[in-house]
Amino acid sequence: MSQHPPLIFSGNSNPQLAEEIAKRLKLHVGKALVTEFRNAETRVEIGENVRGSEVFVIQSICKTPTGKSVNDALMELLLMIDALRRASAARITAVIPYYGYAKQDKKTKGREPISAKVVANLLKVTGAKRIVTMDLHAAQIQGFFDIPVDNLMAMPVLCNYLKKEGLCDEKIVVVSPDAGGVHRAEIFAKRLNSSLAIVFKRRPEPDVSEVTDIVGDVAGRIAVIVDDMISTGGTLARAAEAIKARGATQVYTVASHGVFSGDAVDVLERSGIEKVIVTNTVPLDDVEMHPKFAQLSIAQTFADAISRITTNRSVSELFSGEEPAKMDRPVLLPEPATIG
Ligand code: R5P
Repeated sequence: MSQHPPLIFSGNSNPQLAEEIAKRLKLHVGKALVTEFRNAETRVEIGENVRGSEVFVIQSICKTPTGKSVNDALMELLLMIDALRRASAARITAVIPYYGYAKQDKKTKGREPISAKVVANLLKVTGAKRIVTMDLHAAQIQGFFDIPVDNLMAMPVLCNYLKKEGLCDEKIVVVSPDAGGVHRAEIFAKRLNSSLAIVFKRRPEPDVSEVTDIVGDVAGRIAVIVDDMISTGGTLARAAEAIKARGATQVYTVASHGVFSGDAVDVLERSGIEKVIVTNTVPLDDVEMHPKFAQLSIAQTFADAISRITTNRSVSELFSGEEPAKMDRPVLLPEPATIG
């Protein structure tokens, strides 16, 4: 669409991931000042000519490694898009590896906002012409946008890791930690050639979970619980406890987004879970490094998607095969590839 090579910019939430993605595309992260005024308002200044260029802004809506809030990350993203639009970029794609506010995708009781829709409106109004994200908490959030949304999957990267660790076939059972995650777990079970079980949970109040039932046979098998995100860690800790009580020999967990709120790391560390595997859609502090946790890089998946978007090739093809596409190898972060 543009005569110029695509440009990549990053806010403060995923600078390392943005560098990795740019490197894989043989590009560099464009110069941009993304900081604060003394009054704590977000200050943005794009440091390169973007006129007529296709531009990708990489920014998860999550806490930043520098300690800025979820809302700061969102504001940085919006102001960067606005600055790029006013600087005459030809097309702006918001690359949001982790789409925050996604859990607030419906009213669960009266007088609540639908925050995921508000975020979608803001992105659209500021000038995003396309969204690239990963494992949206609910796929139907795509419908909150009237612009194209590419909802990528961490599944090939996570499955490759599990296969390399020998966690596949009949010795494992893939477990969905709630009814809402069954479709995702089914895809993993198919890719890993294993059986499926479902944990049913209820939330007596926000951020608290209780297991009510388990369907499927977990006895004598290694359970691999598959979830989209880990927030307080309660869902996985409770599910692991219940599955072990039903005779699972070990419990592993994989999730696309390691949000780890509050004391989640301690909760998971104290749990009977062998290993907690997440991707780097949400950055994790070095101080949190712990052997029970592993973080896999999904930079190649985003690089592949960006490359396909700029050349008008299919993005869904990346996820259609039994094995990931050639460029889609999972890449472990430098050792120790652990967080905690
Ligand atoms: C729930 O619908 C999600 O798929 C996750 O299970 C949930 O967000 C995890 O939250 P937490 O770690 O706080 O239990």
